[in-house]
Amino acid sequence: MLILERKFETDFAFNIWYKRKIMDIKDKLREKQLPVHVAIIMDGNGRWAKQKGNMRIFGHKNGVKAVREVVEAAGEIGIKYLTLYAFSTENWTRPKSEVDALMTLLVTTINTEVDELIKNNVRLKQIGDLKSLPDSVQKKLQEAILRTSHCKGLTLVLALSYSGRSEITNAVAQMVTDAKSGKIAAEDISESLVSSYLYTSEIPDPDLLIRTSGEYRISNFLLWQLAYSEMYFTGTLWPDFRKKDLFEAVLDYQQRERRFGKTGDQISS
Ligand code: IPE
Ligand code: IPE
Ligand code: MG
Repeated sequence: MLILERKFETDFAFNIWYKRKIMDIKDKLREKQLPVHVAIIMDGNGRWAKQKGNMRIFGHKNGVKAVREVVEAAGEIGIKYLTLYAFSTENWTRPKSEVDALMTLLVTTINTEVDELIKNNVRLKQIGDLKSLPDSVQKKLQEAILRTSHCKGLTLVLALSYSGRSEITNAVAQMVTDAKSGKIAAEDISESLVSSYLYTSEIPDPDLLIRTSGEYRISNFLLWQLAYSEMYFTGTLWPDFRKKDLFEAVLDYQQRERRFGKTGDQISS
C-alpha cells in the first residue's frame, strides 16, 4: 500500500512538473517562426526494446504512443505538415517475422487511430511505393486517406516503403516518358518541374528534420527535399519521444539563422 501511495505521489508530482515544463517551452515558441513542415526519422525502437529485455516488435508497438504524441503536439502549435519515416525500402531486408509484425501493426494502428485523426482535423497522406505494401495495408491506408481527405488541419504524411533515390529515379523515368510523348520539352526542365514529379509535389520542403536514437544519417529519406532543412539530432529513442521533445526541437530550430547561402548581415538587414 505504502509503495502504491509513493508511486502515486511521484507520478502525480512528475505529471505536474511535466505539464509545467511543456507550458514553459510552449510559451517560448514564437508563432511567426514555426516550421511549416517537420519531418521525423523515427529511429531506435529495436534498441529500446532490447534495453528492456524484449523483442524488437515490443519497441515498434511502444513507438505508436510517440506517434500519437507528436501528431497531437504538431497540431497544437500549428505545424502544417508532419512527415514520419515509418518504413524504408531498405527495411524490407529485415527478418520476415519483423516485417510481417510491422505490417500488422500498421493495419491495427490505422484502425484504432483514424477516428482520432478525423476528430483532430488531421489529413493523412502516404509517400513511397504503395504497391509494394501488402494488400491489407494498401486497403486500410487508402480508406484512411479518403476518410480524412476533408480535414483541413495538420497534414500527416507517412513515408512507407519509401526511398529517396527511388523517388528521384521514378521522377526521371516519368519525365523522359513525358518528354517522348511531347508533354514536356527539354527546356521545361527546372528545379520546380523536378519537384512536381516527386511524391511530395503538393507539400513544401521540410524546414526541420528530426532524427532520434543518436544516429547521424539520412538513411535515404527525402534526399531532394532536405536540401536546406535544419537538422536536429537527439539521443532519445523513438518510443520515449514525447510532446516536450518535439517542442524542444522546434525551440532549437527557432534559435537558428537560416541563411540559404546569404551572409548573416544580409539576413538581419
Ligand atoms: C525504427 O526503429 C523503426 C523502423 C525502422 C521501422 P528501428 O527498428 O530501426 O530500431 P533500431 O534502430 O534497431 O534500434
Ligand atoms: C530509417 O531507420 C528508416 C525508418 C526510421 C523507417 P533505419 O533504422 O532503417 O536506418 P539505418 O538503416 O540504421 O540507417
Ligand atoms: Mg534503426
